[in-house]
Amino acid sequence: METVARPDTLRDRLRAWQSDGQRIALVPTMGNLHAGHLALIRKGRTLADRSVVSVFANPTQFVSGEDFERYPRTLEADARLLLDMGVDLLFAPEIGDLYPHGLAGHVRVEVPALDHILCGASRPGHFTGVATVVTKLLNLMAPDVTVFGQKDYQQLVLIRRLVADLGFPVSIESVDTVREADGLALSSRNRYLSTEERAVAPGLYRVLRQAAEVLRSGNRDYAAVEAGAGSDLEALGFRPDYFAVRRASDLMVPRQTDIDLIVLTAAWLGHTRLIDNAAVQSSR
Ligand code: PAF
Repeated sequence: METVARPDTLRDRLRAWQSDGQRIALVPTMGNLHAGHLALIRKGRTLADRSVVSVFANPTQFVSGEDFERYPRTLEADARLLLDMGVDLLFAPEIGDLYPHGLAGHVRVEVPALDHILCGASRPGHFTGVATVVTKLLNLMAPDVTVFGQKDYQQLVLIRRLVADLGFPVSIESVDTVREADGLALSSRNRYLSTEERAVAPGLYRVLRQAAEVLRSGNRDYAAVEAGAGSDLEALGFRPDYFAVRRASDLMVPRQTDIDLIVLTAAWLGHTRLIDNAAVQSSR
């Protein structure tokens, strides 16, 4: 496996494979790889001839006051994992490689229908940072397929919209959230949890599943379901940022007749913000 930092070197490598007719799968990550990322990479490998992983803690998606400085950077360990998994190329650029004119006034990509709601409401600018860096990666690499996790469900929907709107010729695949045995969704940020917080954390998914079950049984009082789940989270010791019932396809507020729903939440445990979601296949 080769590790490449420079975009022009990356382009050369990929063009050589592409002119050979080989399909390329890209899994974009911010590093500190865990089993959730490995599931994305495994999926990518089944869909393409060559597998490329990017590791880049993207500064523009961290809102001021967030954990950009202390975000875990473990490139050597990540590279070892990727080598073991048979990944062909690791792209690990520096900030200047992806933002050649610096971070002030850089070109931005916005997805207004989706970037201000849910997580975007409390993390203003976060999704513009995500959309911008994903656009850069897609432009640079022109992969055939790219894989994202369902844990970051809003990100997944936003990237699907971005790709459809800008007409990128790439197929977007997603992979189910990988969980600990007790239900906690894997996340690089779980390492910030204290022992006591870690014991409480699986409650997030329990409350999501309960709400999904209530909706599945036909309850359409979305506001009551949201309020009840919010109180349940508070009783467990979370500070909910939001708990929302949405349409799975576009994250808009559902109508009574919508069938394909999703419940999503973000909640603080101490200084750690956790997100998770659960799909609802309703009975009507
Ligand atoms: O999901 C992530 O790790 C990041 O948001 C992504 C998609 C790699 C963009 O930096």
